[in-house]
Parts: sequence; structure tokens; C-alpha cells
Amino acid sequence: MKFIKVKDFKEMSMKAAEMIADRVKESEKPVLGLATGSTPEGLYKILVEKYKQGEIDFSNTVTFNLDEYIGLPDDDPQSYHYFMNENLFKHINIPAENTHVPSGIAEDVQQECRDYESLIQSTGKIDLQILGIGKNGHIGFNEPGTAFDIRTHIVDLDETTIQANARFFDSIDDVPTKAITMGIGTILESKEILMIISGEGKQEAVTKLLQGEISEDFPASALHKHPNTTVIIDEAAWGDN
Ligand code: GLP
Repeated sequence: MKFIKVKDFKEMSMKAAEMIADRVKESEKPVLGLATGSTPEGLYKILVEKYKQGEIDFSNTVTFNLDEYIGLPDDDPQSYHYFMNENLFKHINIPAENTHVPSGIAEDVQQECRDYESLIQSTGKIDLQILGIGKNGHIGFNEPGTAFDIRTHIVDLDETTIQANARFFDSIDDVPTKAITMGIGTILESKEILMIISGEGKQEAVTKLLQGEISEDFPASALHKHPNTTVIIDEAAWGDN
């Protein structure tokens, strides 16, 4: 695992966007794994700028998002479908049929997990998977205690995750308690992983990640098993480490 320390959110976003742009340019049919949350917002803005300047063409890019809340329709402003459309998809030339986000309102959510997993498998490997990290070390919505070989599945969100994500909702009672997420096993099959970490609130998670102990209690530690992972961390998140 390669760690890169950068000054701030802006530098982290720029470095991450450059890496993604390079992978998109290098491949005839790039497959990207995408994440939501506040951390990737800056890098999506930069990708949109790069697209508008004619620097990147997304017409052959395929994307798979990590996760979605169960119970939120695609047009709900708190859904990850909505987030992706607003922050990236509607501003670039990616064909709608190339973008994939698990459905949180499928009639049979278990079946949706199996279908989403098979779709990823049949597309081939994800070339570059972007990841944020939860304060408790979650990746996607794989909470502490999740097996490292698990595939796309349904999760009960941790109380701490519900609290952390309540800032996006009118009230904590509106935060869904369940989600569908790509599994850690699915994530680890990506050819390359880029994790981005910003802000003081993530210092404890960074400390654990840098310590290098591999444990299911800290889902992000699974990345130590991956052969090609880069972690970009800003000074605020790095703290005294
Ligand atoms: C959510 C998402 C994760 C994300 C995490 C951290 O729970 N499911 O994919 O990494 O939040 O979000 P933020 O970047 O807002 O701190």
C-alpha cells in the first residue's frame, strides 16, 4: 500500500482526478468504481472541468458505484443515484446505460445484490476503484465485522455511520438504517484502488490504517491485502502520525 501525504483537500482532489483521468485516457473501455460522500466531491468537480476543457472523453467509460441506501428512490436528493447525477454524470458525456448504482428500491433487494455482483463480474475487472473511508474504517458500507470475502450484500448501518451521515438529512430519523453495498471481496478484485482521506475527523482511522494491522474490526485494513492500492491523505487527516 502506497501512502501519499498532501497539503489539503484541494491537492488531494487534484491528484485523485489526475489519476482517474490518466486511467480513462489509457484504456479503450475504462471501468471505474465510484464512491460518494463529501471526500470525492472535489475530485468530481475537477473531472467535470477536465471534460469541459476537452481533456477527457467519457463516452466509453463504464462505472459501478459502491453503494446505495435501501428505501431511497433514485430522485431522492439524499440518494447516491442523485448524488452521482448531480456531481458527475449529468455534466459529462458518459452514456446513462454505462453508469451503475445499486437500486435501493428494488422489490427483491437480495436479488438486486446478486444481479449487481454478476453485472460487475460480466463487465470484467474494475480498473480503478475510488474509496473514501468512514470514521470507523468502513469502506463502501462494509461496517466493522464484515468478512473480507463478502460480495455485494445488504447491511445494517452502524449507529456511528447513521450519526455521521445525518448531516445530509433533515433529521437523524430520516437516515435509512440499511444499505446495499459492494462487498469487500468485490472491492479487492479491482485492478487498482485509490483511497482518499481528508479532514481531522479521519485521524483515528488514518492511524489504524498506517499501523498496518489487518482485522475485520477495521474494514479498510483489508486493503493491505491488495497489490495495487494508493492512499492519498491530507495533512488534517494525517495529524501527528
Ligand atoms: C458513506 C459512504 C462511504 C464514504 C463514507 C465517508 O458512509 N458509504 O463510501 O466513504 O460515507 O464519507 P465522507 O467522505 O463524507 O466522510
